[in-house]
Amino acid sequence: MGENSTLVLFGARGNLAKIKLIPGLFHLDESGKLPEGMKILSIGRQKIEDDVWKAEIKEMLDVKFKKKYEKNVFDRFIARNFYHANEPEDPEAFKRLSNKLLNSGDFSKNIAFFLSVRPSDFSTIVDQLAAENLLKEDGFWKRVLIEKPFGTNLETAIELQKSISRHLAETQIYRIDHYLGKSALQNILMTRFNNAILEPLWNKNYIDHIQITNHETLGVGERTTFYDSTGALRDMIQSHLLQMLALTAMEKPASLNPDDIRKEKIKLLESINPIPINEIEKNAFRAQYSKGTSNSEGNVLGYLEELGDDKSVVETYAALKLFINNERWNGVPIYLRTAKRMHEAGTYISIKFKNKDDLVKTDKSNWLVISIQPRESTHFEIQTKTPGLDDSLMRTTRLEGLNRIDGDETIDSYETLMLDLMSGNQSRFLHIDEVKAAWSLVDPVIVEWVKDKNKVHQYPSGSGDPIESKIIFENPDQFWRKSINN
Ligand SMILES: NC(=O)c1ccc[n+]([C@@H]2O[C@H](COP(=O)([O-])OP(=O)(O)OC[C@H]3O[C@@H](n4cnc5c(N)ncnc54)[C@H](OP(=O)(O)O)[C@@H]3O)[C@@H](O)[C@H]2O)c1
Repeated sequence: MGENSTLVLFGARGNLAKIKLIPGLFHLDESGKLPEGMKILSIGRQKIEDDVWKAEIKEMLDVKFKKKYEKNVFDRFIARNFYHANEPEDPEAFKRLSNKLLNSGDFSKNIAFFLSVRPSDFSTIVDQLAAENLLKEDGFWKRVLIEKPFGTNLETAIELQKSISRHLAETQIYRIDHYLGKSALQNILMTRFNNAILEPLWNKNYIDHIQITNHETLGVGERTTFYDSTGALRDMIQSHLLQMLALTAMEKPASLNPDDIRKEKIKLLESINPIPINEIEKNAFRAQYSKGTSNSEGNVLGYLEELGDDKSVVETYAALKLFINNERWNGVPIYLRTAKRMHEAGTYISIKFKNKDDLVKTDKSNWLVISIQPRESTHFEIQTKTPGLDDSLMRTTRLEGLNRIDGDETIDSYETLMLDLMSGNQSRFLHIDEVKAAWSLVDPVIVEWVKDKNKVHQYPSGSGDPIESKIIFENPDQFWRKSINN
């Protein structure tokens, strides 16, 4: 099954590898999805023996799967795994790596490098790999997966791209946005384009507006320093929410080939109007959570208290209004919002249809809500007549279908993306033009927000959207949905 290949995992002893990557690879092996001859070479900066590394892997799996796995599967998985020390003070570390991979005969020369390291290390590692001839595709493929974020703004993204593209062609670069590995996100395309009842309505003639929501109940937690240099707009909207928007609004791709899908996503992202600098207040809103309550944690502190700096203007709530400049969407507001410490967690896309009230006047509307997580579902709200003598009385009928049912295959987004990496499918990875378009949209807002040191709006932890966020609505009858149900 599949060709022989080698996955080289930089940052194998880091948090992401421990929680997602190594257990994900094991799960893939367990379900028979890893090519038989595939080997995994983990790289860490400390010198440890293979046995110690194998014991660490066992510990990760024991924690993740509560020791519930078969011994023969474990033995097969562990036999694929090797360790290479990449000690920073060892000038020969990459030479030894190259020897091991290219000359020992122990590893396939089809190699994917997964860089699960700090973003500041991405380009240095690519330089070092190139210097040791590890990126040249001489009869064997070489791919490099770059973790998120790709740059911290447009300028740094272009710099990183310039640096790595000295050694790599676009077809060799796999920029991750792990939301694209979620099957519920891919479902957006199928729901739109495989259903004749939806696609004819998917335009400015029938749609009033679109809301793309990502709400979390968790706060910033231990990551205060990281978060205060990032913020919700950069962390979530630049990547995950704009990708959800692209899938929701793009034109039909010529096929499901990676190039065709990415071509349409790029076109869509590039056709979004930039927010005018002098109108940021009407189009972008930010806020921070203050103290309050969380269902799972009880009384919780506010962001500024957790940070220990009451001067920070970094947002834990960000909302944007965007307009797409094309035939299909001209004039339709698209609202994106993401927030921490909300009343409930949920990632969903809500489409509000225009009211057709020729016969009976009603202020209620038809909605379609596609929920990504925690529930994977499709939810319709349609207006129907209330039974009885009064023909003018309407009410909302809710129809909900689960997109995931008992017995469906469960595959984590990172597992999907690692399989794609090994099989050479880039459709669920970001093209550099998508990354650039996304930074171009959020950068001007971030710059203005950083400049403005006025105290940021506060919302109590555990509450809904701050009331002041309504400022971005185009029409007074528009409102944030509180959940997928109302
Ligand atoms: N997609 C997402 O939503 C998402 C989520 C989480 C993380 N990430 C990204 O994933 C990456 C890793 O995150 P993390 O939380 O795992 O970070 P982490 O816990 O800090 O781990 C990074 C690891 O990289 C190792 N490392 C650094 N340079 C290396 C080199 N030259 N050779 C070998 N190992 C090296 C470090 O080793 P030492 O321990 O020896 O220093 C550390 O173990 C980051 O880029 C982060 O931004 C993305």
